[in-house]
Amino acid sequence: MLGEENSKFLSRTVKSGNLWKESGLLTPFGVHSNYRFTRPYPLFAKRGRGSRIFDADGNEYIDFSLGYGALQSGHAHPEIISALKSRIEQSYMLGFEEEASIMAARAVNERYSTEMVRFSNTGTEATMHALRIARAFTGRDRVLKFEGCYHGSNSDLLFSVKPSADDAGSPLRPVTVPAGQGIPAKMKESVVVAPFNDIAATEDIVESFNGDFAAIILEPYPMNMGVVLPRKEFISGLRRLCSRYGILLLFDEVKTCGKFYGGAEEALGVRPDIKILGKAIGSGVPVSAIAGRKEIFERVGPGKVSHAGTFNSNPLSMEAVIVSLKKVLTREAISRSQKLSSELASASRDLLEMNEIVAHVPVAGVSGAISFNSRQPENWRDFMAGNTGKWNYYYLAMTNLGVIPAAPGPDEQWTVSVAHTEEDIDITVEAFKKVAPRISSHFRNIGIEESV
Ligand SMILES: Cc1ncc(COP(=O)(O)O)c(C=O)c1O
Repeated sequence: MLGEENSKFLSRTVKSGNLWKESGLLTPFGVHSNYRFTRPYPLFAKRGRGSRIFDADGNEYIDFSLGYGALQSGHAHPEIISALKSRIEQSYMLGFEEEASIMAARAVNERYSTEMVRFSNTGTEATMHALRIARAFTGRDRVLKFEGCYHGSNSDLLFSVKPSADDAGSPLRPVTVPAGQGIPAKMKESVVVAPFNDIAATEDIVESFNGDFAAIILEPYPMNMGVVLPRKEFISGLRRLCSRYGILLLFDEVKTCGKFYGGAEEALGVRPDIKILGKAIGSGVPVSAIAGRKEIFERVGPGKVSHAGTFNSNPLSMEAVIVSLKKVLTREAISRSQKLSSELASASRDLLEMNEIVAHVPVAGVSGAISFNSRQPENWRDFMAGNTGKWNYYYLAMTNLGVIPAAPGPDEQWTVSVAHTEEDIDITVEAFKKVAPRISSHFRNIGIEESV
């Protein structure tokens, strides 16, 4: 299906191929995160600097994957390196609280308009903890999530992440589908799934349970199905619904916290009860946070709600948060990245149109995505209707020209970091100028025509 682009990739990335085979002898699928597995095999990277990443074969790429959005700072940001270097000499692990964790908590509160914070290391831990707090606060167990949203690898929420059309049931009343094996059947009973962007269907579902939910959790801009733009009335409707029934509204901002300066609240004007932050706040150093109102967070503590972790608020992650939020991801730097992201989107749209390729290019702050869909996806069902073959071809062809156009996978998106330049965008657009006509002709040759 991917034709000569596949052969080109194989010949450019021989070392990656060999390393992947070696890794596969020790590690399932040769990767330490299922999402990293791509066909024909994943690239093995060696180093990164600014907007660039270098693979094991020495190929250089403009990187718009950026650690799945964690590197909003770009690779190896000099301010982060210098802060980490000076910290590491004092200690990289204390196992006690320290002044830096106060400064980091303050930086989070100021930026995201929250009152109290708890740090951990990954988005997965943060969503798990947030849910536990919501359950304790409301005294209820049931949770509502949206089809196609991903909230990390904890079993609580590993449902209907990417359900197949055969399993997913009715679009207005989706079935709760476990995302893979090993998830206790009992857990399914406490998770109800609703269609994103449909407030009427969500209201019906919540009302059918008499509002008996601890939390409604969502990615406010779903970014595990490309980029989905939320309808304003959907988000404000969820806020009203939660307030009506005493349900906590949880924004999983593991991705969106870096896409807009103040996260999704700034873009949407709606305040959730708990914000879950990750990725960008540490510029690539593993750190996550949950934050929200004092009244909710006061439930956490010894003998109350469990929230713990040996590596929580470790010196390196705290240093990374302080420097990222105060010095690197400034309002000015983020708006520059947003501008570049819009320019990339608009040039991509023009080229798609010129080459008569049916696609949409939604943009949310510093991120955007090409969806080879006949309508701009508003939810998982729309997203599933897209042409993943075209996306895979686009990804491979761009990679072969030295541009990693997005995180790997049609369900991912690009991130424009604060290190990307106008020149990076120009080079990327030039590459897409070559790739777009190839997409048209390749799919015409193999008998898949556009239905414009
Ligand atoms: C919206 C969202 N929530 C949670 C997570 C899990 O974060 P982590 O991979 O750091 O555990 C991710 C990861 O991509 C995510 O996109």
